[in-house]
Amino acid sequence: MSYNVFVTRVIPEVGIDLLRPHCASLEVAPPDRPISPAELVDAVRGRDGVLCSIGQGIDREVLSAAGRQCKVFANFGVGTDHIDLAAAAELGIVITNTPGVLTDATADLAWALLMSAARRVIEGDRLARSGKWAGWDPMELRGVDVAGRTLGLVGAGRIGTAMGQRSTGFRMPLLYVDVHDAPELDAIGGKRVDLATCLSESDFVSLHTPLTPQTRHLIGAAELQRMKPTAVLINTARGPIVDEAALIEALRQGRIAAAGLDVYEHEPAVPTELAALDNVVCLPHLGSATRATRDQMAEMVASDLLAVLGGEDPRHPVTG
Ligand code: DGY
Repeated sequence: MSYNVFVTRVIPEVGIDLLRPHCASLEVAPPDRPISPAELVDAVRGRDGVLCSIGQGIDREVLSAAGRQCKVFANFGVGTDHIDLAAAAELGIVITNTPGVLTDATADLAWALLMSAARRVIEGDRLARSGKWAGWDPMELRGVDVAGRTLGLVGAGRIGTAMGQRSTGFRMPLLYVDVHDAPELDAIGGKRVDLATCLSESDFVSLHTPLTPQTRHLIGAAELQRMKPTAVLINTARGPIVDEAALIEALRQGRIAAAGLDVYEHEPAVPTELAALDNVVCLPHLGSATRATRDQMAEMVASDLLAVLGGEDPRHPVTG
């Protein structure tokens, strides 16, 4: 079989190597920049399959432009909030994603943010490099303790669970919010609570829900107000889960102590008001960014794309 496939971003070579022998035409987007929405619409025309990624809107226009022969949009990434799943279903286009392989990398990064925000690691790094450090000071850059403090998880799926499991070494009481019980968290003493309880009782609140109409702005001014003034908010899930303007205000006024963010409401924009604050650690959406994880994602997404084109069921289908 010889397919016509478009890859919308440069991905690790292992994925391209899998696709190449099966493709009569395999085009990969330019390496130096993300393609524009208009370029994307043009580039998908006439393809049998598209390997897309998060951060690119795959709306009805893009899916329709691909054409009736197009069988699959395989997404490099687990979140599919950027894809119009209803339109894909109507057009008979299969959507796949890459769950599981990025769980550990993302939970590790959430912990990196938690520790950095709690212990003011970035501010310390800046001071140490500045040439202005005057030596050890009993009052300098005092942060908040982690060990023994309560960790609250909003969302107890794969990544939330992995985040919670990592807390046992820190002897942290564990609360979680989810529509389902999470037996793996229950097994280590986790307690399922409602959102209000989680926010008011946790010292660290870490977000791990997908972005849906129900979770958009789940954390707004009222929710931030419920948190302890010493609490730290961590978001490695999706930016729009938090009302960013409300968060900036809460951080400015010291209504919460700090935040660690890997995601933003309007990526790639990081508001200047946010970037100007010392009590926030900002990363550029690095949750899954390890070499091994990105290789596994590339392999998984390419295999599923080929499975669909070969008439088989994909291993990781996404439905609306
Ligand atoms: C995903 O896969 O959805 C992540 O946000 C990428 O790191």
